[in-house]
Amino acid sequence: MDWDARYQNNPGYVFGKDPARFLLENRAFLPTPGVALDVAVGEGRNAAYLARLGFRVAGIDLSKPGLIKASRLAFEYGVAIQPVMADLTKIALAPASLDLIVCINFLERRLLPVLMEALKPKGRLFMETYTKGQVKYGFGPSNAEHLLNEGELLDLFGAFRVVFYREHDNEITGAKAGIVVEKS
Ligand SMILES: C[S@@+](CC[C@H](N)C(=O)[O-])C[C@H]1O[C@@H](n2cnc3c(N)ncnc32)[C@H](O)[C@@H]1O
Repeated sequence: MDWDARYQNNPGYVFGKDPARFLLENRAFLPTPGVALDVAVGEGRNAAYLARLGFRVAGIDLSKPGLIKASRLAFEYGVAIQPVMADLTKIALAPASLDLIVCINFLERRLLPVLMEALKPKGRLFMETYTKGQVKYGFGPSNAEHLLNEGELLDLFGAFRVVFYREHDNEITGAKAGIVVEKS
């Protein structure tokens, strides 16, 4: 997927300006505002939402056009985010430095231990992305490497306290799994 072109060629926002439903519907599970990281921030809909709630948010992505739009979206709401252009397959994060990590529609399994290490004790991670059931709908990722197996998030985060988990599979939202976990 050429994300740069996708973001550049869309005069609006590819995924809209509103935060992901998973984040919005589970906002009651967010920790007290502190330091947050949005993994694969894209055009910033989730990072801007968190900044509006009072989090100090950094957003990492490989796409410069995405990061520029993310900063612009935050500015539109009268807040700021810190855009970081980096490859998430090669990233190092300071241990126990984050209160919240959000990762929506991005799956890089090797990154998950690095993310959990970067959370402070009692810090929380919100993650939602597509499962293999998505292939039948003809949109979203098709590469199996970027799709979850049924129940896989529960296995991947088995060492942590699961605050919330859900899987769904329908034509409107697609086939997805989402989890909120807390580090002890
Ligand atoms: C489906 S978009 C998700 C956007 C955002 N999380 C949201 O919910 O609106 C996936 C994003 O992952 C980014 N991405 C893909 N591979 C990456 C990598 N190795 N390092 C950093 N960002 C990456 C792309 O540039 C793209 O913005």
